Amino acid sequence: MAYAIEMLGITKEFPGIKANDNVTLQVKKAEVHALLGENGAGKSTLMSVLFGLYQPEEGIIKVDGKEVKISDPNIANEYGIGMVHQHFKLVEDFTVTENIILGMEPKKSFSRLDINKAEKKVKELSEKYGLKVDPKAKVQDISVGMQQRVEILKMLYRNAEILIFDEPTAVLTPQEIQELIKIMKGLIKEEKTIILITHKLKEIKEVADRCTVLRRGKYIGTVDVESTTEEKMAEMMVGREVSFEVEKYEAKPKDVVLEIKDLVVKNNRNLDAVKKLNLKVHAGEILCVGGIDGNGQSELIEAITGLRKIESGTVLLNGEPIENESTRNITLKGIGHIPEDRQKYGLVLDFNLEQNMVLQNYFNEPFSKKGILNPGEIRKYSDKLIEEFDVRSGKGSLSETRGMSGGNQQKAIIAREIDRAPDLLIAAQPTRGLDVGAIEYIHKRLVEERDNGKAVLLVSLEMEEVLNLSDRIAVIYEGQIVGTVKADETNENELGLMMAGSKKGDTISDE
Ligand SMILES: Nc1ncnc2c1ncn2[C@@H]1O[C@H](COP(=O)(O)OP(=O)(O)O)[C@@H](O)[C@H]1O
Ligand SMILES: [Mg+2]
Repeated sequence: MAYAIEMLGITKEFPGIKANDNVTLQVKKAEVHALLGENGAGKSTLMSVLFGLYQPEEGIIKVDGKEVKISDPNIANEYGIGMVHQHFKLVEDFTVTENIILGMEPKKSFSRLDINKAEKKVKELSEKYGLKVDPKAKVQDISVGMQQRVEILKMLYRNAEILIFDEPTAVLTPQEIQELIKIMKGLIKEEKTIILITHKLKEIKEVADRCTVLRRGKYIGTVDVESTTEEKMAEMMVGREVSFEVEKYEAKPKDVVLEIKDLVVKNNRNLDAVKKLNLKVHAGEILCVGGIDGNGQSELIEAITGLRKIESGTVLLNGEPIENESTRNITLKGIGHIPEDRQKYGLVLDFNLEQNMVLQNYFNEPFSKKGILNPGEIRKYSDKLIEEFDVRSGKGSLSETRGMSGGNQQKAIIAREIDRAPDLLIAAQPTRGLDVGAIEYIHKRLVEERDNGKAVLLVSLEMEEVLNLSDRIAVIYEGQIVGTVKADETNENELGLMMAGSKKGDTISDE
């Protein structure tokens, strides 16, 4: 069997770590080949090697059976290899078409005629593959899902035959994911070859033919997807059995820790995003605010944590008002926050890992004494968290957080927030982008917090997580809680209807 792509014995090192250690990847023509591995396993690195962004220390690459040297992305393009990166690289105030032809000949600026021609071709490609992209739209005016399609078109415009997708579904809504899967199937019909990175085993089952698994930079194996269970793939990836169920006893809720009354918060466009919302979270329970993205959940969390102004209403923490206090005071009063946007609010990317681990309490003992930092104590503490939460990076406490993989950045934030043992832990999309092994661990720790008598406020868009992890679910719709249900007395169907605003839940007592 001739392979479209072969990567043989690839080794790529970064300071302190072999990101790829003698890795093999063999991709057949016109298949969807999934690449699976924990956060930091070396998937993106391997794809960057294939796309010519990194040069490996060892190993060879073959395209259609012939050995090639891919020294930069232009050469990769010449061999028909295209890549959609984890973070898109589009120019916001250019149109779709301008973005697509950016960087192509002619080197001088494009004439109107060139652009008209390009627009026509973009339109044809968009129609052929069912992408529904408007060639004249400005990138800043289109959704994230559409921007991703522009990246796909960019590859197709350059006649790419091998399409690399690095975690394309991480940024998409459930509906957009289904559409992307359809698009991928269409691409395969046209004899394109796809390499797909995703953590979602369901997606692999749905769309992939074969799957290659990496673990800690090493090649573990390649399996036929149809005849391999999700459990088996998870086990190959993590190196042990993984439980998809959250194990927990019934909650024993105690006093109210967080009480929100008639809260009103505006969004960035100055419209009411949270409209006289009421909510109570008790010690010893995990309460999830569940809903479709954009119904006010982000604004609600930002308001509680001091990141967004409260227009009216009250927020009580252990009976004490905290509305419109500074984030620092709110933190010190006993709220922990695992934020939705980890790079903006969770970490200071210019600081190293240990500095980030003591971000909110470096001025307290034992990290400081009489205003003087104690580096030994900070290091000891950071090393402890890294070990306990299995945060992986090249240089441990001294790693630059900017260069860490997203999943490991997330684990670092979760470690810090849980270890501070706040009375109320707010977890916004805590497992987004994490692999199944890490998800299992985070869920276990959140349940432990609950069982230690802490209140946990969860915000999640993942239906499975909402149902599995929560004790109670408060459904948010257009800025209001439209009903509160017990997680073990509801199902996906009922929740779906409530989230769409077409069914009111019985509001169970929360006293
Ligand atoms: N540019 C870089 N500099 C230093 N270390 C890096 C760099 N890119 C990746 N790494 C490290 O290499 C390992 C593999 O990373 P990556 O390929 O991004 O993993 P994955 O995509 O599977 O999550 C990680 O430990 C990561 O911290
Ligand atoms: Mg990656």
